[in-house]
Amino acid sequence: MDTILTRPSAAPVIQSLRNIGYNAQTAIADIVDNGIDAGATDIHITFEYNTGDGYIIIQDNGTGMSDEELQIAMTIGSKDPREERKQHELGRFGMGLKTASFSLGKRLSVLTKKDGIISERSWDLDYVSQNNEWALFKKIPLEVKERMGQFESEGTIILIDKLDRFSGYGTPKVIQSSSFYGKVGRIKKYLEMVFHLKLNNNLNIFMNNNFLVPWDPFLSEHPKTIEGETQIIRVNRKRVKITPYVLPHPSAFNETKYKEAAGVKGWRDQQGFYIYREGRLVNFGDWFGMFTKDNFSELVRIKIDFTNDADEDWKIDIKKSSISVPEDAKENLKAIGKYYRQVSKEIMLYRAKPSNKTGKMKGSLHTWELYNDEIDSSYILNRNHPILMEVLKQIDDETRRKLNFYLKLVESGSPINLLQSDSMLKKEEDIQELDDNKKFIISELANSLFSFNDEIEVESIVDSISLMPGFESINRRTIRNFIEKEVLVK
Ligand SMILES: Nc1ncnc2c1ncn2[C@@H]1O[C@H](COP(=O)(O)OP(=O)(O)O)[C@@H](O)[C@H]1O
Ligand SMILES: [Mg+2]
Repeated sequence: MDTILTRPSAAPVIQSLRNIGYNAQTAIADIVDNGIDAGATDIHITFEYNTGDGYIIIQDNGTGMSDEELQIAMTIGSKDPREERKQHELGRFGMGLKTASFSLGKRLSVLTKKDGIISERSWDLDYVSQNNEWALFKKIPLEVKERMGQFESEGTIILIDKLDRFSGYGTPKVIQSSSFYGKVGRIKKYLEMVFHLKLNNNLNIFMNNNFLVPWDPFLSEHPKTIEGETQIIRVNRKRVKITPYVLPHPSAFNETKYKEAAGVKGWRDQQGFYIYREGRLVNFGDWFGMFTKDNFSELVRIKIDFTNDADEDWKIDIKKSSISVPEDAKENLKAIGKYYRQVSKEIMLYRAKPSNKTGKMKGSLHTWELYNDEIDSSYILNRNHPILMEVLKQIDDETRRKLNFYLKLVESGSPINLLQSDSMLKKEEDIQELDDNKKFIISELANSLFSFNDEIEVESIVDSISLMPGFESINRRTIRNFIEKEVLVK
């Protein structure tokens, strides 16, 4: 056969690989997958902000790689997606490490230790573009390597910097530290959701020293959650496990728990199917066009599990964040969905328990409730007030949206809430403005981190505190001042 060997041009290919649609959350999750596949029990993720130039480190204590394995791992398309994967393996396309990293920044450096031998490689897309060659550095630049720290055991340390996509490095749109750490907070929530089954299971993930706490979308521990019967169906001869859940009526929660249970997209949008591949959530809160999302159905969350040998049936994509439901499964899923949506509706309308005449289920009659999570408090409207519930029932979706928006405005304009947020805007040096509870938490945490490692930098303690719920809105300088003046001197 007469052929011409035609190598793809590096610069344009790199550009398209950077645009396959990862966001920061799905990118970090994909890199975490690799650590899990490598058998890690501890994964430490560090986000470091630096004006205009930060970096991200993902360190795992998995098996690590030999020099040859690392060379393959750094190759774009290192494994054939058609290859059969080991049982439970999360990888698929041999692309994730590279494409996920490049969607965050332009430089990817990997340091790995296996059988006592340390190997390293580094991609720098600036160099690739300038030379239009797939030139991989054998050594990691010294200033980068210094940041990567030491191995405590075998494992892998990945550092991504030149974060043009994540923080606007080298562009006119460099983000501020508050939005940098805002993004970090959202990534944390996302990981707590997609890895919730793994986190219960011999895996710890830390983000800027914060321990990730699994978030269970099904509230399976809640006594009022209804767990439907598990059904096993076969799609293309492969087992698919379906377990429906109907969450408790809103009146079963206090406001804090109600907000927690909502999830990243909020109650209404989190309803639907939750699809797990090898115990890792890949798609959530979606009816896949079978039903529309309405308020009465918002208690339904249906768990679906498939295994990596069924990837082709579910058309898993490179980012592992999207799938499509196989035709063979649709009829079953639709029947199950329809039934449990009806259950949800009955519960929402209090029809499920007609014997309850005491009215207890109707929730509180207060119009305002204190939203209190031990750290922070504000007043919010009681959305479960019987009159409001009645009104919401009688209006159409559009009116409901408008009414909800108006209620939000009322909430944020409430004099008590304004008084509270006023105090947040006060002089940042004014550490007296931190309430006792917050001071207590900051000094406890700082003290314990110092006792753990007395060389730890104040700045990294500040990072870790500003990621905690209730602390996001506090000025970082206030926290730093407090640590320097009240904790360090003692
Ligand atoms: N943290 C890690 N520890 C050990 N091996 C890794 C790690 N990250 C990547 N690898 C190796 O590199 C290969 C390529 O990774 P990746 O590009 O994410 O593709 P995939 O996960 O689909 O195989 C993996 O199959 C694995 O062999
Ligand atoms: Mg991978």
